[in-house]
Amino acid sequence: MRSKKIYILGIESSCDETAASVTCNNKVLSNLICNQTIHKSYGGVVPELASREHQKNIIPVVSQALREAKISKEKISAIAYTMGPGLMGSLLVGTSFAKSFAYGLKIPAIEVNHMQAHILANFIADSEKKTPKFPFIGLTISGGHTQLIEVKSHFDMKVIGETIDDAIGEAFDKSGKVLGLEYPAGPEIDKLSKSGNPNAFTFAKPNIPDLNFSFSGLKTSILYFVKRKLEKNSNFVEENLCDLCASIQKTIIEILIDKLTKAVKLTKINRIVLGGGVSANSGIRNALKEFELMNDCEVYIPNLELTTDNAAMIAVVGYFKYLKKDFASYNSSASAKLKF
Ligand code: KG4
Ligand code: ZN
Repeated sequence: MRSKKIYILGIESSCDETAASVTCNNKVLSNLICNQTIHKSYGGVVPELASREHQKNIIPVVSQALREAKISKEKISAIAYTMGPGLMGSLLVGTSFAKSFAYGLKIPAIEVNHMQAHILANFIADSEKKTPKFPFIGLTISGGHTQLIEVKSHFDMKVIGETIDDAIGEAFDKSGKVLGLEYPAGPEIDKLSKSGNPNAFTFAKPNIPDLNFSFSGLKTSILYFVKRKLEKNSNFVEENLCDLCASIQKTIIEILIDKLTKAVKLTKINRIVLGGGVSANSGIRNALKEFELMNDCEVYIPNLELTTDNAAMIAVVGYFKYLKKDFASYNSSASAKLKF
């Protein structure tokens, strides 16, 4: 007997990307992302502007996702949407649209936790990749989160370590701001690091004993270091930009690898699954491949298009929830601080 095809429309609007995707079981048929460039001149995401942009973009993005998937809306089995965590105004646009659309089509709506989705993105069908076996350690690194998660099954996830202040993405973005780079500075630091010396400068690393992270001290250390240097040479940043980026990136990677080593030791789980926007960083990807070899671990790294915020990861979680008939009630609401 042929198994039934489940078509899920996924909608993501937790921060500054309006995204829609259609999946058939765990295979991606379309994956559309509309980036909001409006925030660049403000040096960070402006929540009010983000909600307005989502409202403008959501219908065109969803329509295009359906067109690219070549399926009519009547064929969709359910609509999965990001319920949280994220910016409340942004979440409300996606959740309201998704629930109304599902109601109109008389199909189930499915709530998705954005952070779970970053991990479960690794379960999207890909002929080139194996899917991870349980249990594993999830490492979610994004602009809003830095978490180590013990994952026993698709929906049995426990946070075993997280940042006590800034997220790793903020460490990249805020350090970049000190260097005069545009928001979000993460991708630019990554690019410039390739031409820099990672050992040129040394920055203070946090001393947190457990599996929690801290990145705010690093940003302060970079800020004061750069200030001191600028007093003596006003061209210091321009003259040393690549070395500064490479040294900052190296410090962030060392903080990450140190905690990962501790997590593997403590949990005795040697399977690691990466997720979140910062996992696009080439230095982190290389460091994890090295970690895999040195520590006899299995490391799973998503394809680049599935690292930053996207709706394919939301749709695939929707598929797993659909199989469990875990549907949303129409009076549920977005949750900016949603936990596992
Ligand atoms: O997961 P994501 O798209 O949005 C959140 O949920 O936060 O992550 C965005 C973060 C930003 O801080 C951005 O600077 C960072 O991911 N990022 C990178 C790279 N690409 C994106 N950081 C370092 N290197 C990159 N290549
Ligand atoms: Zn994210």
